[in-house]
Amino acid sequence: MHLNISGVESFIDKTALKSLNEAAIQANRQLGNKTGKGNDFLGWLALPAMVNESDISRIESVADRLRENSDTVVVIGIGGSYLGARAVIEALQSPFEECAQGRNPKIVYAGHHLDEDYLNEMLAFLKNRQVGCIVISKSGTTTEPAVAFRLVKQLMEEKYGNDGAKERIVAITDKSQGALRQMAEQEGYSTFVIPDDVGGRFSIFTPVGLLPISVAGFDIRSLLKGAADMEKASDVDVPVNKNICIQYAAIRNLLYNSGKKIEILANYTPRLHYLTEWWKQLFGESEGKDGKGIFPAGVDFTSDLHSMGQYIQEGERILFETVVSVEQQNNELRIPHDEQNLDQINFLAGKRIGEVNRMAEMGTMLAHIDGGVPNIRIEIPHLDEYSLGQLIYFFEKSCGISGYLLDVNPFNQPGVEAYKKNMFALLGKSGYEIEGEKLKARF
Ligand code: PA5
Repeated sequence: MHLNISGVESFIDKTALKSLNEAAIQANRQLGNKTGKGNDFLGWLALPAMVNESDISRIESVADRLRENSDTVVVIGIGGSYLGARAVIEALQSPFEECAQGRNPKIVYAGHHLDEDYLNEMLAFLKNRQVGCIVISKSGTTTEPAVAFRLVKQLMEEKYGNDGAKERIVAITDKSQGALRQMAEQEGYSTFVIPDDVGGRFSIFTPVGLLPISVAGFDIRSLLKGAADMEKASDVDVPVNKNICIQYAAIRNLLYNSGKKIEILANYTPRLHYLTEWWKQLFGESEGKDGKGIFPAGVDFTSDLHSMGQYIQEGERILFETVVSVEQQNNELRIPHDEQNLDQINFLAGKRIGEVNRMAEMGTMLAHIDGGVPNIRIEIPHLDEYSLGQLIYFFEKSCGISGYLLDVNPFNQPGVEAYKKNMFALLGKSGYEIEGEKLKARF
């Protein structure tokens, strides 16, 4: 994996970068020494190297059980309790993969919104499938996953009886607190623990991410190896010229300080759509507080060049762009020659589609730089478990450093409570009556 910052050089002042690099070195040290804000939530830092053989074996054996008895596994969770798993699974899985006997189960996601039609349609779909369920909530009290789990549990108990359902449900939650822990113990589900010192959006290398990824048929050992290698490569002792986490955190803050308030994460493969969703949560929830923070946005190119491309090229100059660039495709496909050439693309005949995509990427990068959008490139050789492990840890570490550069606590999310309070008040939850009346009067 490589960080290429040549596309920002014409936008930055080298002396300012030097001093931000120094600050980022200190921020990385604060993370390592656990002396910065939110230092009781730094368990994720050492996770990749700490997950041991017995943890991995247990995850793999529970995953095998779900794979054997289910053709469809519902992963229930929201935010950090599902986005990491989905990011990895969708990056590795063919969008056309259909589950079949002896193949990987289909993964269905629920509990990440409150759409009635979606849940209805999902239940109808599950009726004729062999269903497994992984329910994930650290607090064990989040409304969206609780609603979805109630429905899936009911369906599974009707289908398999209480004992049969119990064999097919796995809960991942706090070691002792919350409604999900209580329910799991009462019902006798298999459980995994989310460590106290690991927040949701940093939890992918715990069973939160590892179990669904393993159920989907991917190699969690290789994912962890990639992350562990990035953990070493971003250590406090690694000098800035070799430490790409420090470099990325410093560059993005330098751009932010110069008025570039929005970072767009761009990809050129639809497989990375959910990696971008995960990244948006990671940076948005970690940095957007105290009236500060780089706004994380995402685009899927070349699709979004036909929608967001105009704004990026010529809109307000408050953007910078970070491209996750994948060097090699899995399979070769060449554009056929056509005698009539009515679509006038015979100049592309015989070329690999990957080469056309690459030229779109290079051409876009240069056009955006010329249009005033600084460009950072994160180059990964191939979409596989190892590279994704590296990339995910790279973003997590950079996010911690970057949050400290902004002088915020990157590991809390107090702002997430505001909507919940209003929703509970409007739905008449006990204890919220007065607030509910006040809110209704505002409609
Ligand atoms: O990163 C976070 O902490 C949040 O996104 C949580 O993961 C999300 O709100 C879900 O919370 P819980 O796992 O408690 O249901």
